[in-house]
Amino acid sequence: MERRWQRHCWPRQLPLFFLLILLFLATLVSADCECGYSSSIGGSNTHLRAVFTDLIESDFSADGYDINTDTDWVRQAFNLTNEKARGAYGEMFAVENVVVMKPPTISDRKDGDDGQTEWQGSSSSEGLSLMVRTELVEGMVPVAEVDTRRLDMHWGTFRASIKMTGERGTCAAFFWYFNDTQEIDMEFLSKEFNRSNSSYPVNLVLQSREAMQAGFDAHGTKNFVKAYLPFDPTSDYHEYRIDYLPNRVYFFADGIPLAEMDGPAVPTSAGHLILQHWSNGNKLWSGGPPAKDSALMVKYVKAYFNSSTIQRQQDWQNRCKNPLAHRAVCNIPDVTPTNYSAARWFFRDQENMTNNQTLSGESEGSRLERVWCMTFYALLFVTGWAFALW
Ligand SMILES: *[C@@H]1O[C@H](CO)[C@@H](O)[C@H](O)[C@H]1NC(C)=O
Ligand SMILES: *[C@@H]1O[C@H](CO)[C@@H](O)[C@H](O)[C@H]1NC(C)=O
Ligand SMILES: *[C@@H]1O[C@H](CO)[C@@H](O)[C@H](O)[C@H]1NC(C)=O
Ligand SMILES: *[C@@H]1O[C@H](CO)[C@@H](O)[C@H](O)[C@H]1NC(C)=O
Ligand SMILES: *[C@@H]1O[C@H](CO)[C@@H](O)[C@H](O)[C@H]1NC(C)=O
Ligand SMILES: *[C@@H]1O[C@H](CO)[C@@H](O)[C@H](O)[C@H]1NC(C)=O
Ligand SMILES: *[C@@H]1O[C@H](CO)[C@@H](O)[C@H](O)[C@H]1NC(C)=O
Ligand SMILES: *[C@@H]1O[C@H](CO)[C@@H](O)[C@H](O)[C@H]1NC(C)=O
Repeated sequence: MERRWQRHCWPRQLPLFFLLILLFLATLVSADCECGYSSSIGGSNTHLRAVFTDLIESDFSADGYDINTDTDWVRQAFNLTNEKARGAYGEMFAVENVVVMKPPTISDRKDGDDGQTEWQGSSSSEGLSLMVRTELVEGMVPVAEVDTRRLDMHWGTFRASIKMTGERGTCAAFFWYFNDTQEIDMEFLSKEFNRSNSSYPVNLVLQSREAMQAGFDAHGTKNFVKAYLPFDPTSDYHEYRIDYLPNRVYFFADGIPLAEMDGPAVPTSAGHLILQHWSNGNKLWSGGPPAKDSALMVKYVKAYFNSSTIQRQQDWQNRCKNPLAHRAVCNIPDVTPTNYSAARWFFRDQENMTNNQTLSGESEGSRLERVWCMTFYALLFVTGWAFALW
């Protein structure tokens, strides 16, 4: 017990202790962003904004990032037969197909790599690597998926920095999901990319994937837009973004609006985020499997959203005293085609901007530990108070 206090409780909880005292003395203390994060709506050139209360920011290329201790993302393991997968082959989703790639060290860098080329022109691969492998396992293509642990995302702006594979025959998907009829999808088919005529489509869908894989091609209808990217998505990381609002969904690439959808197909539930890289040989969709092992690289995901849980809504009500107060609401910076600096911005890296707004890092164990420590300090504080030490 003694050691546990020293190692886990004392150093980390000490600031909390003083915060408690501060809270006690000055009830007006507040933190930045306590009323939420404000996002542009429909593009950064409009003045419409929406506010979200919660956030998950995952920097997969950060020093020390470890998927094994990540409490926000869960690697998936399940097998699909070819009938279930609706392809020529089955799919084997396995945790070992999700690999963390570290950024190159300084000595690995080519001459002339400055901050800008690091983002814009890098051939390096860093972050989460979602692999589709070429060698079948018992008739299944080895593929990869990670999901957010939280399932309570009810409206939000979801942003992922991704570099696609150049190998033909995979489907890369970034999507928000509740069930097969409440789903917001960005799907990239690597076989559709064509360098010789600079054609890089992305399939934007509010619909069931069953319909798509059955060859549904409602190209140009309200719930299915094939949009063309103004860049080669296989040569570098770009930010793909889904904004999920009541009765309306927007899709972006590097802040450029790709499509806007409304109508009855817009979901109404709370859901979660999924990143997938797969192939099943279905000629109408993914094609493949690819001729070489293929990696989908994900550098970061940033999700700003409202929670459907009563607990989180109450937390917001308790901490947000005045939404109009200075810095009570923080603006989320946007990536634009000419300005990528927002890609390197994380609220969680700042002091005091994510207080009480994320469950990141909270496993059941650490939550219990926190309760323990808080109780300890509360007792200490009250004791001190009683003996007039403070
Ligand atoms: C947190 O932000 C609030 C409001 O801006 C400020 O008063 C307070 O001093 C900050 N606390 C720390 C620890 O930076
Ligand atoms: C999210 O929740 C906050 C707090 O309840 C609310 O002010 C805001 O309008 C909500 N955002 C959306 C898009 O509904
Ligand atoms: C999927 O199938 C492979 C090969 O039979 C097997 O090794 C693996 O354990 C299966 N995965 C799951 C989650 O059942
Ligand atoms: C998805 O959820 C909605 C809302 O609960 C429900 O109406 C719909 O039937 C569900 N769809 C499927 C395929 O289960
Ligand atoms: C790419 O586009 C060019 C020009 O439209 C066409 O000739 C070529 O067949 C296409 N390549 C593939 C692999 O589809
Ligand atoms: C490029 O070629 C593909 C065939 O690979 C075709 O489907 C697409 O329409 C072409 N795009 C342009 C802009 O010509
Ligand atoms: C680039 O974007 C950042 C973050 O949104 C912003 O603070 C900065 O002023 C922008 N720079 C230029 C030159 O517009
Ligand atoms: C937020 O604050 C409330 C009230 O202090 C507390 O009960 C809750 O556990 C906190 N949640 C997080 C995620 O910090």
